Amino acid sequence: MSKTIGLIVGSLRKGSFTRAVAEQMVATLPAGYTVKNIEIGNLDLYNQDLDDEGRAPQSWQDFRAAMKTVDAVVFATPEYNRSVPGVLKNALDVGSRPYGASVWDQKPAIILSVSPGAISGFGANHHLRQSLVFLNMPTIQQPELYIGNVTALLDDNLKIKNEGTLKFLAGAMETFTDFIERLS
Ligand code: FNR
Repeated sequence: MSKTIGLIVGSLRKGSFTRAVAEQMVATLPAGYTVKNIEIGNLDLYNQDLDDEGRAPQSWQDFRAAMKTVDAVVFATPEYNRSVPGVLKNALDVGSRPYGASVWDQKPAIILSVSPGAISGFGANHHLRQSLVFLNMPTIQQPELYIGNVTALLDDNLKIKNEGTLKFLAGAMETFTDFIERLS
C-alpha cells in the first residue's frame, strides 16, 4: 500500500541548506512513498486559550488536517542557538493540542540536522529528539543523521556533490521505510 511521508523543515530561508539536503534525501524514497511538504512558516504562535475557547486559527486547523494525512514524518532542522528554531517548536506545539488529539501520536519519524558548522546541529537534533519522546513518536535511532560542514558538500546550485553523503542519506531512507513497514 502506498504511504505518505510528511517533510517538515525548520528553516524558512529561501536558500536553506537544510531544505536542500532534506529534499535530495527524500527524493531517494522508493516507489510507493509520496512526499508531502508540510509548511510551518505561516502557523500562528501557539496560545492555549484559543483551543480552550474553540477559536483555533485557520492556520492551525489546516496544519492539523494536513498532518492527519501523513503516515510518517521526516524532520529536517538547522540549529539555532544549540536548539531547534522557534518555528519548528511552534509547529510541534500546535500539532500536539488540543490535549488528547495530538497529530504526532505513534507516527514514525526520522531526524536530520544540518549545519555549516562542525558540530552538525547535534544540539538541535537532540532537543528535537527529546520532544518526540514525549510526543510518542517512534523515532529511528540509527543511523543518526548529522550533516555538518554542509557548504563543503553542496555545489553552487545546492546539489549534494559528495557521492558518499548521498549514499548515506539514501541508506537512511531505506532503513526508515523498513521501520515504517514494521510498525504498520
Ligand atoms: C544560527 N546558526 C547556528 N549554527 C550552528 O551550528 N549552531 C547554532 O547554534 C547556530 N545558531 C544560530 C542561531 C541563529 C538565530 C541563526 C540565524 C543561525 C547558523 C546556522 O546553522 C546557519 O544560518 C544555517 O545556514 C541555517 O540553516 P539553513 O537556513 O541554511 O537551513
